[in-house]
Amino acid sequence: MNNEALKIRDLEVVWHPCTQMKDHEVFPLIPIKKAQGVYLEDFEGNRYIDAVSSWWVNLFGHANPYINQKIKEQLESLEHVILAGFTHEGVVRLSERLVALTPKYLDKCFYADNGSSAIEVALKMSYHAHLNDGKRKELFVSLTNSYHGETIGALSVGDVQLYKETYEPLLIRSIQTPVPKDATKEAALEAALVFEELCAQKAQEISAIILEPLVQGAGGMHMYHAEFLVQVRSICDRYAIHMIADEVMVGFGRTGKLFGCEHAKISPDFMVLSKGLTGGYLPLSVVLTSNAIYDKFYCDYSEYKAFLHSHSYTGNALACAAANATLDIFENESIIEKNLLKAAYMEQKLEKFKTLPNVKEVRRCGMICAVELSGYMPSERIGMQVYLYGLKHGVLLRPLGHVVYFMPPYIITHEEIDVMMDTAFDAIVSLVRA
Ligand SMILES: Cc1ncc(COP(=O)(O)O)c(C=O)c1O
Repeated sequence: MNNEALKIRDLEVVWHPCTQMKDHEVFPLIPIKKAQGVYLEDFEGNRYIDAVSSWWVNLFGHANPYINQKIKEQLESLEHVILAGFTHEGVVRLSERLVALTPKYLDKCFYADNGSSAIEVALKMSYHAHLNDGKRKELFVSLTNSYHGETIGALSVGDVQLYKETYEPLLIRSIQTPVPKDATKEAALEAALVFEELCAQKAQEISAIILEPLVQGAGGMHMYHAEFLVQVRSICDRYAIHMIADEVMVGFGRTGKLFGCEHAKISPDFMVLSKGLTGGYLPLSVVLTSNAIYDKFYCDYSEYKAFLHSHSYTGNALACAAANATLDIFENESIIEKNLLKAAYMEQKLEKFKTLPNVKEVRRCGMICAVELSGYMPSERIGMQVYLYGLKHGVLLRPLGHVVYFMPPYIITHEEIDVMMDTAFDAIVSLVRA
């Protein structure tokens, strides 16, 4: 097998996500033969540093020996079993650990198999919990510039204009309240006031507010102050509205703490986790909620209040083994503490980007860094130019529009950070107009 042959076979039969397939007439598709650590390798031995952790999922590198071993061990005893009416040790252990690690009052785990499905679970659970209380609340609030996935419910609460316009007739009701405009406390307080005014008018209709704590990922790594979460929690309490923390992207250490909500010392009513949950190995997601919510569904069968949701692969045993192995690594290797040093090093390296005329702002939150470019039209596809430059120089960068970002696996070394960020720097320099 070689790169060319696999590309041809692929384009005959595979329809890729998030892709205008015609682009592949001119832009290369990269066939990957194997991966190790932060490196992806093609069939000709070209290597690429995975600066985006393969869509923000990979935490401890590709082919991590410990996670590999744990999945192999699991494979010997149980690959999968229906989770309705049956259970297995891996899912029980994982749930016990997640309940212990997440903020208080998150007592029960409901599993799905990707971020978007878990968002659907959280939205339905919120709506249904109110319904079981005799209240019909059909409206969801989310933040401007938010992204929560691409199934119909998740898409409905996101704020990506093109997606919303295209699928508008299919969507459920949602309304957006402004995200804090920057990372200052003032901006957080200002945005919280607007949310409070909305609640004062519409609390009777609002089931929940859903938000990405601290960093809006797909919305260009937009960052805001933890005070906003504190305020939202308090407003939700006063108006009997649920708070859904979508930690699909920020969870598992990306923001510098294990979970984003920890920065604000708050407990949401629902916490949604996926991506890093299995260290980037297998699809798995989970919604954690309180016993108070759980109890609203707990009654005699004939009352018909049970939660109505299931997926065939709910709580898959191999995925749970990968998730337990991931938590072992967090536990045994002081990852959060070690990341502080790597994050500080990346912050230092961000400095030189500030000197470039086409850089509007640099931002960092934990292990997430972003460089926002300015002065370009969307039609120039500046992100694509940075992507192509990166590939030519051995780094997988995948800018979000005009925002170049770094979200590498945590095992990245200082030397690899140098290559990753210096390559992005050179790419941005190459775009400065004469
Ligand atoms: C914050 C957030 N929520 C939900 C999702 C959807 O997850 P998935 O792509 O696994 O459906 C994403 C994906 O990027 C995300 O960033």
